[in-house]
Amino acid sequence: MNREKKQGKVYLIGVGPGDPELITIKGLRFLKRAEVVLYDHLIPMDLLKEVSRSARLIPVGKKHGAHSMSQDAINECLFHEAQRGKKVARLKGGDPYVFGRGGEEILFLKARGVDVEVVPGVSSVIAVPALAGIPLTQRHLAMTVAVASGHVTEDNDPIPVPDADTLVYVMCVSDLDKTVKQILKKRSAGTPCAVIENGAMPGERVLVGTLRNIVHKSRTAKLVAPAVFVVGDVVRLRARIFTKRA
Ligand SMILES: C[S@@+](CC[C@H](N)C(=O)[O-])C[C@H]1O[C@@H](n2cnc3c(N)ncnc32)[C@H](O)[C@@H]1O
Repeated sequence: MNREKKQGKVYLIGVGPGDPELITIKGLRFLKRAEVVLYDHLIPMDLLKEVSRSARLIPVGKKHGAHSMSQDAINECLFHEAQRGKKVARLKGGDPYVFGRGGEEILFLKARGVDVEVVPGVSSVIAVPALAGIPLTQRHLAMTVAVASGHVTEDNDPIPVPDADTLVYVMCVSDLDKTVKQILKKRSAGTPCAVIENGAMPGERVLVGTLRNIVHKSRTAKLVAPAVFVVGDVVRLRARIFTKRA
């Protein structure tokens, strides 16, 4: 009789932003084989139809700061399921390592000897502007890109504005006014910018403006999360590039 304990494994899978077809072939393959699936609220829920009927689904979603499961509890749950010999798919919106706490989870599991594999995903940072007709770089116009968090906590001023032609802020909605104020220390009020809400999803909205008026436009439009804020001359290209998707 084989008494060897079945080895569990955790797959940290980036599923892309919004559109279920933006998961990678590898990510989908591991998802289909999973015995336990932990998922965030920002993943496209249609992907759960791909999961095996016998698999256990565990929502661990974090919505507007209200965690349904703490990060510590998520780590422990991943560890526990892997210890039980399960194939665990940990689904994360976009890419696991771009503001996704994937690094924390993998370090936790590796420190405990768990077999873990990361499957990179299409990050909202790149895909959401792309679908809105905004390339992040363009020869002669933008040769550098910086990605930052627009979330400001009580003991944390907005982060210094990176030196890059194109700036992309995630988690930008609640503190957009503070972020814009900070950017205005370095860039002119006429700098083009855009906020893209619910990118790659049916309810997608794109607000285009300048640093002078984007906060007002966002308030008037009652902007909600998730949204990505893009700043720089590349935003002007949208007028020539964007075509409605089928
Ligand atoms: C915690 S971060 C996770 C980012 C994710 N790991 C990635 O690579 O896209 C969540 C932020 O990503 C952005 N985001 C994710 N999905 C989005 C979408 N479909 N449309 C617009 N922004 C999105 C928003 O800025 C949101 O606040």
